Amino acid sequence: MKLLVCGGAGFIGSHFARLRAREYDDEVVVLDKLTYAGREENLRDLADAPGFRFVHGAIEDADAVADAVAGCEAIVNFAAETHVDRSISGPEVFLTTQMNGTWTLLEAARERELRYVQVSTDEVYGSIDEGSFTETSPLDPSSPYSATKAGADLLVSSYTHTYGLPTAICRGSNNYGPFQYPEKLIPLMVLNALHGDPLPVYGDGMNVRNWLYVEDFGRAIGTVLERGATGEAYNVGGPGECPNIEVVRRILELTGRDESLIEYVTDRPGHDRRYSLASDKVRTLGWEPRMRFEDGLQRTVDWYRENSWWWEPIRSGEYRAYYERHYGRALRD
Ligand code: NAD
Ligand code: DAU
Repeated sequence: MKLLVCGGAGFIGSHFARLRAREYDDEVVVLDKLTYAGREENLRDLADAPGFRFVHGAIEDADAVADAVAGCEAIVNFAAETHVDRSISGPEVFLTTQMNGTWTLLEAARERELRYVQVSTDEVYGSIDEGSFTETSPLDPSSPYSATKAGADLLVSSYTHTYGLPTAICRGSNNYGPFQYPEKLIPLMVLNALHGDPLPVYGDGMNVRNWLYVEDFGRAIGTVLERGATGEAYNVGGPGECPNIEVVRRILELTGRDESLIEYVTDRPGHDRRYSLASDKVRTLGWEPRMRFEDGLQRTVDWYRENSWWWEPIRSGEYRAYYERHYGRALRD
């Protein structure tokens, strides 16, 4: 299949592009705006994959989309502004990418009658104290990030309802693994621990996330692309439900550091307490997670330890300024 992977230079999109090109022999075209989170280095091993093409452009730019989509049979959309804290300090770009961008892609799919898969998040359901969300749970997002992701999901559903476009939505829980930008909890804590920087834990550290290894999410999205029913949403939850402080302690153990590095900091405004997804529906399509959290975390820590070529330019660039602004302290060199 020839696939347009939007946002394929980011964390999850690059794993998905690699998986489809290497294991499924798909021809992959990546369209990516290369924001601070998107990096061509994430795709460098795909340069020689048959039919691989990289197009630098935004999903809200109809001309760039028309160029990238030529000859493709399906669109999988990962492109998004993805960090909750950045959505709180500067929501505007979240609206442009999530709303205008998704709309532009849906129009391109409609014009060409293409299959369309939207990559979404458990955060659209909001927080849940007990039990798990199913696909029929009401959408109740809390942050500008999750609200714009929920808005995009509703727009996608409307294109099936109104125009009969063959869409599906995949809602994943918190992903982790190699190539994740270090603004997110796990890579941030791993790199700070490796450098001896304090580990900033929000609030009481008891917020719970449902950790999913990135390759498991990529395989779930492929399953939904191939076998998901038109107009349906599929939850994809990971096997590792864990309070943040427990994740941080495991990282300290894996990096050989002690708990004196933990620093409790001011909580995120509107911080969702717990996410939890019931994934029975995607399991009926034949998917299940392969990676246990303890194994995936070990593999992730090893990857960051061995791949300083990847994170060194990040820690000395935009991220350093972002970190100082957000946490009010400098990173060590
Ligand atoms: P990421 O921030 O690592 O990557 C996002 C990519 O999108 C980057 O390459 C960026 O350059 C690109 N992009 C941003 N705006 C764009 C635009 N306007 N046009 C074209 N490209 C643009 O994000 P990620 O963690 O890989 O997340 C990918 C998708 O998966 C997102 O839609 C996110 O909402 C969803 N998701 C993420 C998680 C998670 O835990 N990271 C979990 C569930 C769902
Ligand atoms: O649930 C899926 C979502 O997971 C995705 O849709 C988002 O794109 C992705 O960013 C992620 O959102 P979270 O807000 O859950 O992830 P983040 O890594 O930012 O934070 C995870 C938890 O760790 C959360 O409870 C906040 C906490 N945290 C985070 C940071 C960055 C800290 O305690 N300290 C920190 O410095």
